[in-house]
Amino acid sequence: MAMKNSTISALIVFLALLSSSHFSYGQLRLGFYNETCPNVEQIVSQVVQDAFSKNSTLAPLMIRLYFHDCFSNGCDASLLLDGRTSEKTAPPNLSVDGYALIDTVKTAVEKNCTGVVSCADIIALATRDLVNLASGGKARYEIPTGRFDGRVSSALLVKLPGPEMSVSATFKMFEDRNFTITDMVLLLGGHTIGVTHCSFIMDRLYNFNNTKNSDPAMDPNLVKELKKDCPQNSGENKRINLDQNVSSSNIVDASFYKQIKSRRGILKIDDLLATDAMTKQTVTDFANGNDFLARFGQAMVKLGAFGVKDKSTGEIRTSCRSCKNLLCVA
Ligand code: HEM
Repeated sequence: MAMKNSTISALIVFLALLSSSHFSYGQLRLGFYNETCPNVEQIVSQVVQDAFSKNSTLAPLMIRLYFHDCFSNGCDASLLLDGRTSEKTAPPNLSVDGYALIDTVKTAVEKNCTGVVSCADIIALATRDLVNLASGGKARYEIPTGRFDGRVSSALLVKLPGPEMSVSATFKMFEDRNFTITDMVLLLGGHTIGVTHCSFIMDRLYNFNNTKNSDPAMDPNLVKELKKDCPQNSGENKRINLDQNVSSSNIVDASFYKQIKSRRGILKIDDLLATDAMTKQTVTDFANGNDFLARFGQAMVKLGAFGVKDKSTGEIRTSCRSCKNLLCVA
């Protein structure tokens, strides 16, 4: 008997979830702290919920912090370390924030279970909770724990894609870390929430590829609107929503894909995602509601397994801002 299209798509999503949930997580597992700190997830959730109720921008901040920490040299909280030349001083990390929330969570966790829970796990749990809160409870996922904190943090070791890079160059960076092209499209769905600064799009508005014109790929109405917010030579550097759907720019949902398909992507890489032969079909599938929320969660779990440190290569810090070995910031 022929299977209905809906049954086939449900099966495909199920298999995709199954394969990503069976992705090798090495030492990571659900309930890693069951014996040593059984309430850790509850403590993290409580602090995060309180903070989010006062400041919802913590959601995009933390999602970006998680990506920048994990992608560069593994999810090891090396981005949290303070120091004149530490990872957070590298140019792509200068507008990353959310550090104070991690400090607050760490203090609460340490009160209950001293010296047990890593800062890297706190980032992963806090991000998971913030994705859930910013999706109105629709994007809840389980995330395995058991990461250790890195002992090396250096601005020189930061490797992140830039917003003007091509899809293939960006994908090369993802592929080198064992992510698929679909993982990349899903993770860039993180731009469903949060902001960028005018400085990142001035060339698209005023001098695209040195043409002294705006980027012809951008919806001309959007160009007009953005020019008002980002005037030339104003000295201001305003924030622009990455998801241009006004009713969902602060919500984790699939509307970002619809926007980029309508030529309303803000960063060049977002715009390219919708038109490049490697990614456009996947973008269309997510724009059409191909279970983005569940799959975004799985992609975040996979991101959270990249480059994790273990007992021999990492440690459990007491403060997330300084490691036990004073020489860890190179
Ligand atoms: C792959 C290439 C990527 C590039 C080139 C890129 C670039 C950028 C840039 C330029 C900004 C604006 C920064 C600012 O103006 O201060 C930004 C913001 C953001 N990015 Fe990405 N990003 C990428 C991937 C990702 C991924 C994979 C995620 C999530 C998993 C993510 C999550 C975010 C979030 C949530 C924001 C908003 C932050 C806020 O509102 O404070 N990005 N990104």
